[in-house]
Amino acid sequence: MGTMLVTGGAGFIGANFVRMALKRDPKLDVIVVDKLTYAGNRVNLAGLNIEFVQGSITDAPLIDELVARADTVVHFAAESHNDNSLTDPSPFVDTNVVGTFVLLEAVRKHNKRLHHISTDEVFGDLALDDPARFTEHTPYNPSSPYSATKAGSDHLVRAWVRSFGIKATISNCSNNYGPYQHIEKFIPRQITNLLTGRPAKLYGTGAQVRDWIHVDDHNDAVLLILEKGRLGETYNIGADNDHTSNKQVIEMICELMGGTYEHVADRPGHDQRYAMDSTKLREELSWRPRYTSSISEGLERTIEWYRDNEEWWAADKVAVEAKYAAGGQ
Ligand code: NAD
Ligand code: TYD
Repeated sequence: MGTMLVTGGAGFIGANFVRMALKRDPKLDVIVVDKLTYAGNRVNLAGLNIEFVQGSITDAPLIDELVARADTVVHFAAESHNDNSLTDPSPFVDTNVVGTFVLLEAVRKHNKRLHHISTDEVFGDLALDDPARFTEHTPYNPSSPYSATKAGSDHLVRAWVRSFGIKATISNCSNNYGPYQHIEKFIPRQITNLLTGRPAKLYGTGAQVRDWIHVDDHNDAVLLILEKGRLGETYNIGADNDHTSNKQVIEMICELMGGTYEHVADRPGHDQRYAMDSTKLREELSWRPRYTSSISEGLERTIEWYRDNEEWWAADKVAVEAKYAAGGQ
């Protein structure tokens, strides 16, 4: 793949992606461009032979120069947390919409291959008793500022494919978990709560369902799409774990770690159920997730990672919890 430009490569999924890509092809040239917001951490890429550029995807001259040097662009950079988008949507519009626009213009000018990373949340939510799953043809119906800006970025990519013929693919993936995930997110927040003697915190009743996937299964699919995906296509990524409620996940974590949880204020506009149909990816590209049908194996390994890497998250814990406490969570 020559030189690969990875946006947002110092974040959770991007850093795991760069690690996997280099493990599979140690000769790959990787340039990471990352703004290093609160969610980005240079340590996530420690020990890797890459070029790291600190900068924003909204910086058009910088992005033009970096895209010109790349053969392939993999676009992870985003503001990614729903709760933050409810407090201040502004950086979500800047990075997710304007940043994607800037990247698309550079990709169009230099005629480079792009893969855009997106989320199942663009489809909105399903009722808890609805057994349906989102397909690539489900209409977009985003609920939060986060998912609306991700939906906007997907539409921009599709328009640039149709109007300008850029060589792009899109993937929409369900909720990820695994190492290097910021402790503001559900699973690492609960693990680090229990590790610091706090109770785990469940929003509302906890009946909501997320279709959990291990980050390595997500990134394996992304590499496959880069290699064999059809240009202009969208692929849904999910591991068929759409049967575990937040309450059941938190109970699993409490059981594995020996701890308790409490109910806290619900999220306004809380999406109820996400479920992905990844038949297209499985049939066209023969993708299979490694962590299937239950999240317990992946969860145990993730708990171990947070236990072993306290120095990676400990400095952020008090501030993250103070922010949640201010909102009754
Ligand atoms: P993250 O918040 O952990 O990482 C985002 C990274 O982007 C950080 O390193 C941050 O510094 C960087 N960034 C933010 N603004 C930037 C800017 N203007 N310019 C350059 N870099 C910037 O997020 P994540 O969980 O790793 O998510 C990565 C991508 O995957 C996002 O596009 C997200 O929408 C998508 N996604 C996430 C999930 C999930 O469960 N986390 C699921 C499906 C899709
Ligand atoms: P989150 O990790 O924020 O991902 P998303 O909003 O993209 O689904 O939250 C996952 C689910 O967990 C969501 O239904 C909200 C819930 N949640 C809690 O119950 N407690 C928490 O402390 C957090 C952060 C989330």
